[in-house]
Amino acid sequence: DPLWSRGLGDVYKRQLLISLPDSFQPQLLSNALKSIDTELQIEIGAENVKNPSAVEFAVDWKNPQGHLLNYPNLKAISSYGHGVDNLLSDTKLPQGIPIVRLKDEIMANMMSEYLLAVVLLHRRQLLEYAKNPEFSEWGTNRYHPGNQIGILGLGYLGQASAKVFLKMGFKVSGWSRRLKQIDGISCFSGTKDLAKMLTQTDYLVNLLPNTAFTQDLLNYQCLSTLKRGAYVINVGRGKTLVDEDLITLLDNGHLSGACLDVFRTEPLPSDHQFRNHEKILITPHNSSTTQAESAAPQILENYKRAISGKKLLHLVDMKHGY
Ligand code: GLV
Repeated sequence: DPLWSRGLGDVYKRQLLISLPDSFQPQLLSNALKSIDTELQIEIGAENVKNPSAVEFAVDWKNPQGHLLNYPNLKAISSYGHGVDNLLSDTKLPQGIPIVRLKDEIMANMMSEYLLAVVLLHRRQLLEYAKNPEFSEWGTNRYHPGNQIGILGLGYLGQASAKVFLKMGFKVSGWSRRLKQIDGISCFSGTKDLAKMLTQTDYLVNLLPNTAFTQDLLNYQCLSTLKRGAYVINVGRGKTLVDEDLITLLDNGHLSGACLDVFRTEPLPSDHQFRNHEKILITPHNSSTTQAESAAPQILENYKRAISGKKLLHLVDMKHGY
């Protein structure tokens, strides 16, 4: 019976625990899961769990260190997002319990829309025209020919976004840890090739996961390799970018602007130099956010696989940290 399980001597109704910040509306995920499987036993919030032995699957985002050690029959943990860095930063994770993450089509669409919007906003200088319709002489514009997009990270989101840019007529290159082969995209890999890609890039998009390898990757040396006048978009993680180095390169004119959705500290402190910088656009880590109804089917699928000992979808590679 999929409802019942036996652990440490007692028989219990197995539970799926949703442990998310209130702002993520855990009730919506619970409703979406129950609308697919009405029998499902769901607990929202670790503080509401009455029988820790019953929890066999946890959907997790930003929880206190070690909280997952409370569940002796836990079979798998799912991140409630594409990233797993905040989950893996827990130094007291239960040993040997597999971690999965989301790969969600709606999130890929949201990300593609955001990136296209930002590139076009900058490219067509719409903010300048919004302030002053005569920003260029009537009937003329200051069209910039450079249309090379460089995407760091060619995972699920990176590839989806690359395809949208290609359809729009942009030239697209991409860089990833393992060399990929993708139709229409110039693919790069490795440190030397990173510089090669950057020297050709007009719009740099960071979609890399936060790992020991990617921390501070976008520093002065790296960003100054970009084409003069390049534009930087960070939608990956804040720790990949060295804040002061970005500011220096914006202020000395090497870079023309930046759009940032993720930061070292979130929410971005009110006195941070990124706020009110004339060349920086900021958004509140919402370029692409998990939608309960879209995420529910794959979470349920992994729950079913976990309790029946089957191979999980979207497993995290613990060695590489994503
Ligand atoms: C958002 O940042 C995510 O990792 O899904």
